[in-house]
Amino acid sequence: MSRIVKISLILFIFNFYCLSNINGQASTYCNPINIDYTYSIYNAIDSFSYRSGADPAVVKFRNEYYMFVTRSMGYWHSTDLLQWSFITPEKWYFQGSNAPAAHNFNDSVLYVTGDPSGSMSILYTDNPKKGDWKGIPLIMHDLQDPDLFIDDDGKAYMFWGSSNTYPIRAKTLDAQDMFRPSKQTYELFNLDENKHGWERFGENHGDKVLKGYIEGPWLTKYNNTYYMQYAAPGTEFNVYGDGVYTSKSPLGPYTYAPNNPISYKPGGFMNGAGHGSTVIGPNNKYWHFGSMAVSINVNWERRICMFPTEFDKDGLMYTDTSFGDYPHYAPTVAGKMGEFTGWMLLSYKKSVKASSYYDNYKPENIVDENVKTFWVAEKNDNQQWIEIDLVNFGIVHAIQINYHDYKSNIFGKVQGLYHRYLIESSINGKNWSILIDRKNNYKDVPNDYIELDTPQVVRYIRYRNIYVPTPKLSISDLRIFGRGHGKVPTKVRNLVIKRNKDRRDAMITWNQQENCHGYNVLWGIAPNKLYNSWMVYENNFLELKSLSVDQIYYFSVEAFNENGISERANIIKIE
Ligand SMILES: *[C@@H]1O[C@H](CO)[C@@H](O)[C@H](O)[C@H]1NC(C)=O
Ligand SMILES: *[C@@H]1O[C@H](CO)[C@@H](O)[C@H](O)[C@H]1NC(C)=O
Ligand SMILES: *[C@@H]1O[C@H](CO)[C@@H](O)[C@H](O)[C@H]1NC(C)=O
Repeated sequence: MSRIVKISLILFIFNFYCLSNINGQASTYCNPINIDYTYSIYNAIDSFSYRSGADPAVVKFRNEYYMFVTRSMGYWHSTDLLQWSFITPEKWYFQGSNAPAAHNFNDSVLYVTGDPSGSMSILYTDNPKKGDWKGIPLIMHDLQDPDLFIDDDGKAYMFWGSSNTYPIRAKTLDAQDMFRPSKQTYELFNLDENKHGWERFGENHGDKVLKGYIEGPWLTKYNNTYYMQYAAPGTEFNVYGDGVYTSKSPLGPYTYAPNNPISYKPGGFMNGAGHGSTVIGPNNKYWHFGSMAVSINVNWERRICMFPTEFDKDGLMYTDTSFGDYPHYAPTVAGKMGEFTGWMLLSYKKSVKASSYYDNYKPENIVDENVKTFWVAEKNDNQQWIEIDLVNFGIVHAIQINYHDYKSNIFGKVQGLYHRYLIESSINGKNWSILIDRKNNYKDVPNDYIELDTPQVVRYIRYRNIYVPTPKLSISDLRIFGRGHGKVPTKVRNLVIKRNKDRRDAMITWNQQENCHGYNVLWGIAPNKLYNSWMVYENNFLELKSLSVDQIYYFSVEAFNENGISERANIIKIE
């Protein structure tokens, strides 16, 4: 018991500090974003039912935010980039809209979407909450992944591209004359896989046959420089990310950014950070949105993520995806927005018991940090539960419940979906109390994330199902975040980087450590610009195939467990 007393004291001091910051408001978020993702629309084509959100175009309008997402039958609204509510617009033209773009212009939101089947329109409204969209027909068609950009001087541009053959292309539009497009088409740039390792197709860039796709252009103007973002190599892969080219003019010439990819999250629970958009959030901070792959039911099963974005003093754009699916401070938390909370994963590979399991979908799948494995209970009723023994006492700060669609048989945007449950906790496995009460939740929360008002010291956590909208209760991961009281791993030793003859590839190795969940490999183009990272659970090596051949790199590694993160290993330079 003395250990519990000690822990309680730590908790007391901790709470005192913590509550003074939070005031009962959620101050953190955790990727993937927890919104009511739309189910696949066409049950004739998609014989599998799955929900998906991808290719987010987020636009600021009258100090609020609107998020347009592929095939969603509407869009989302937020005042803080944290809480999103779905809008079913009064008028909507393209229910099957792919990879949309949006732009704030002349006190209206303008919207365009890819439509391979027919002609295109620019839709606009000055009341997106109502959604009385009006259309301006465009003399353009067959544009995949469009991006509409109107410069400060009033000149308008349409960019597009989604191809493993054609480059990102552009036309100018005449904003004074119904957005009439120029006759001329401008070619901006294409993938260059022989030089840029990260543009190669396949899981971990491993496909030696097929070529990568260039897609999803999005232009951001910062400090009189144009940052043309583009996605590669394919949405279903762990390595789907965004790169950037810069120019002094929207039509180029464009120069490859030396720190590409700028949005990249290949390791950990959720993978992928590509095909997104960049928006200025609260407190004038930039945020980059992207798509993460679930890709179990079908390749196109995805979720949305957001990461804090910076332009450094040398004008390099980068996003911080480090611990990018762990809790981070929300965009409204001034001074901390986007920062990692330091709350580690207390549930990783801990022992799990459940009321039942169906087929071979075992309970332990919910603690393996792999979105592609999941637990399925025999039924979806209120007799179903699953319990994790954290073994060590930890301070629990937040919990994320990622539901999985196992033969859900739901199609389209269905109103009235919701999840009801209780999270109970215990310190002895006998006496339980309610930690999170969602018995009266009537919201659809497929990736529910709950930050506790008061962090709690617990050992056992139990999810008790009340209601799910799907025929089976299935959870891919139930993730418990907080802080353990044990030792943080020590600094990683013997970090070795071997760059291959093919300079796009390097093998990174280091000494395995006891008492460690994983490692975060960091790299970049200068010792103080280690902007890229890759989370590696358990293994003490990483085959990195995303380097640019002409670039020198610097590497470090940090080790982590449930108690925190080690000091970084000494930085190593490779030519
Ligand atoms: C902006 O909107 C106003 C009012 O609707 C309109 O009169 C004006 O022509 C618009 N300007 C441009 C550049 O489209
Ligand atoms: C903007 O760019 C100029 C050079 O083009 C540079 O001197 C200045 O520091 C940049 N400003 C910011 C805020 O990055
Ligand atoms: C558990 O609950 C029982 C009955 O309420 C109580 O007598 C006992 O003291 C509790 N044990 C602990 C460790 O809290």
